[in-house]
Amino acid sequence: MTLLSVRDLSVAFGPVRVVQDVSFDLAEGEVLGVVGESGSGKSMTALAMMGLLPAGGHVTAGRITFEGRDITRLPEREMQRLRGARMAMIFQEPMASLNPVLTVGEQIAEVLRHHSGLDRRAAQREAIGLLKLVEIASAERRVNEYPHQLSGGMRQRAMIAIALACRPRLLIADEPTTALDATVQAGILDLLRGLRQEFGMAVLLISHDLGVVSEICERVVVMYAGRVVETGTAERLFGRPVHPYTRALLAAIPRLEGPIGPLPAIAGVVPTPAAFPPGCRFAPRCPYAVPACEAAQPPLRTIPGGTDAACIRAEELT
Ligand SMILES: Nc1ncnc2c1ncn2[C@@H]1O[C@H](COP(=O)(O)OP(=O)(O)OP(=O)(O)O)[C@@H](O)[C@H]1O
Ligand SMILES: [Mg+2]
Repeated sequence: MTLLSVRDLSVAFGPVRVVQDVSFDLAEGEVLGVVGESGSGKSMTALAMMGLLPAGGHVTAGRITFEGRDITRLPEREMQRLRGARMAMIFQEPMASLNPVLTVGEQIAEVLRHHSGLDRRAAQREAIGLLKLVEIASAERRVNEYPHQLSGGMRQRAMIAIALACRPRLLIADEPTTALDATVQAGILDLLRGLRQEFGMAVLLISHDLGVVSEICERVVVMYAGRVVETGTAERLFGRPVHPYTRALLAAIPRLEGPIGPLPAIAGVVPTPAAFPPGCRFAPRCPYAVPACEAAQPPLRTIPGGTDAACIRAEELT
């Protein structure tokens, strides 16, 4: 069953559109990856779903449906009731979203009291249980500590515990492992995988790292300069990528087996939203671009035997 449906979503700051015509679905219990370089619009897409766009940002077109209900322009009061309870988000900046003057336990209890009406003592007990659930050792002690007393990995686990407090149906994890070293990163991914299985919760995992996404996602959305350029099952997308941008991203994943050669990085940078090219936004960086690519924005279309991709040369290239 479809839990979340995003249709032709556009987000703008004044006249500048940073997300354009983004569509995807997320089924109950599914793990969907959203990937793309910095500035491709991943966080703005997620924040629009949570009703938490930064000041000046607005949904200018499209529709977001969650649990069968149109939540695109839900009044803030109703959105507050959904957030935390039905959908929760782990934000990209852990220190910015943890409150430095409250203990971890107080922050979990706040969510529980707000949404579940638990009293102080019950909330404290539940907070310890949640810290154990996210595999924080010595939970009884950690629950009374402040964010600055925790390591980066533990802080990330504490954020996940807060997000899970009300057992949401959808967890949005924005770059949950980016700031962590490889071992800690693997631990967090294992944790998300386990939690998802245990609670049947859907996860929208945002990352600029295709390696991370390939580990736990069943389907993937690749964004570039505010648009979806390719989407499909992880199996197809990683096995037979169609869009030159996806291929370049895949080629940039460092491989552990074999000799380590120079990393084939993608030349150039994502254009700023005020200067998006009129045609295919990847064309200026694309080794396969022809003049027609710069004439019009290529629509996302199903490529026979492959994914959905927005590239006019998709058939020739695969
Ligand atoms: N408060 C803001 N006002 C105006 N533009 C903004 C604001 N916040 C973000 N943007 C712009 O929106 C675009 C998309 O940003 P977004 O944060 O969604 O990218 P991202 O894909 O999450 O990147 P990253 O991988 O760096 O997190 C960027 O060009 C960014 O400069
Ligand atoms: Mg981001």
